[in-house]
Amino acid sequence: MSIIEVTNLSKRFGDIEAVKGISFSVEKGEFFGFLGPNGAGKTTTINMLTGLARPTSGRIIISGEDGVKNIKKIQEFIGIVPDESNLYDELSGFENLIFCASLYGMGRREREKRARELLAWFGLDDAGKRPFKAYSKGMKRKLTIAAGIIHEPEILFLDEPTTGIDVKSARQIRELLKTLNDRGTTIFLTTHYIEEAERLCRWLGFIVDGKVIKVSRVDDLLREVQQEKIIEFTIEKTGAVLKSSLLEKFPGITIKKVSDDNVRIGSHGKIELMPFIKFFDAQGIKISEARIIRPSLEEVFVKITGIEVEKLKAENEGKKK
Ligand SMILES: Nc1ncnc2c1ncn2[C@@H]1O[C@H](COP(=O)(O)OP(=O)(O)OP(=O)(O)O)[C@@H](O)[C@H]1O
Ligand SMILES: [Mg+2]
Repeated sequence: MSIIEVTNLSKRFGDIEAVKGISFSVEKGEFFGFLGPNGAGKTTTINMLTGLARPTSGRIIISGEDGVKNIKKIQEFIGIVPDESNLYDELSGFENLIFCASLYGMGRREREKRARELLAWFGLDDAGKRPFKAYSKGMKRKLTIAAGIIHEPEILFLDEPTTGIDVKSARQIRELLKTLNDRGTTIFLTTHYIEEAERLCRWLGFIVDGKVIKVSRVDDLLREVQQEKIIEFTIEKTGAVLKSSLLEKFPGITIKKVSDDNVRIGSHGKIELMPFIKFFDAQGIKISEARIIRPSLEEVFVKITGIEVEKLKAENEGKKK
């Protein structure tokens, strides 16, 4: 059963069409990642799904309810973790959670019990008494997630939950999200980290330039690329590797990349290093490293989006600062 169904959803900001008629669905209990580069339309989409932005056109159905008309009802059983925290600087961690719980009409004892449980689970017991403004970025993100699940939502929406925080907190957040999903919460998150998407999500939607260009199970995406084996050689800068002579000598391979110091070769059949090493040797090219690469989601991403992974990473490094 689909718990989220999106049909022809669009959002315009004046002349800019940020989301261009996208359609996809998410099954109950899934861990769904929305992967795309800066400006692709991830935040705009998640904001429409959670009622923080109004669609220009299209349809959203969440748990059988109309996502535009009945958004108030939907907000009772979904959790929202925005990219920027929505909590109060002056309140302590504990007070912030109590405040969020009261918005959902939880009784005093229940609120306090739940807030304590969550602080303990998120490793924030001691920090619970301190004001939110004194938290590190990682702690802030954790408390924002705790606030998002205070009412035990059926679906949790998170906009880039691990962007811009330290590695350890990011790892802890991934573990928390996995546990939540194992306990039955449907998770919809946006990310531009391919490794994160590969490790965490079972389904992925690729969004580029406001359009969803593929929705697929992660296992299926990986199976597709892992039929191909890839070897990579780091060579001495000679500029002398000729694609044509490689292809002539090794018919059946594909050349992924040739640069001054790097050659990347793919093959759907058996592939061995030795014949290539001999080939380079005969050409007078010195190899400093040879390795077999297991194709990852990065290869899938490049294939599907045509965006170079290095470019994506560079963009996002810039964003973090
Ligand atoms: N309130 C707004 N007014 C005008 N344009 C907007 C607004 N919000 C988003 N946009 C534009 O819509 C497009 C999609 O933006 P969005 O924030 O959804 O992308 P994103 O995928 O979340 O990017 P990022 O990875 O940087 O968070 C961008 O071109 C952005 O400039
Ligand atoms: Mg965004």
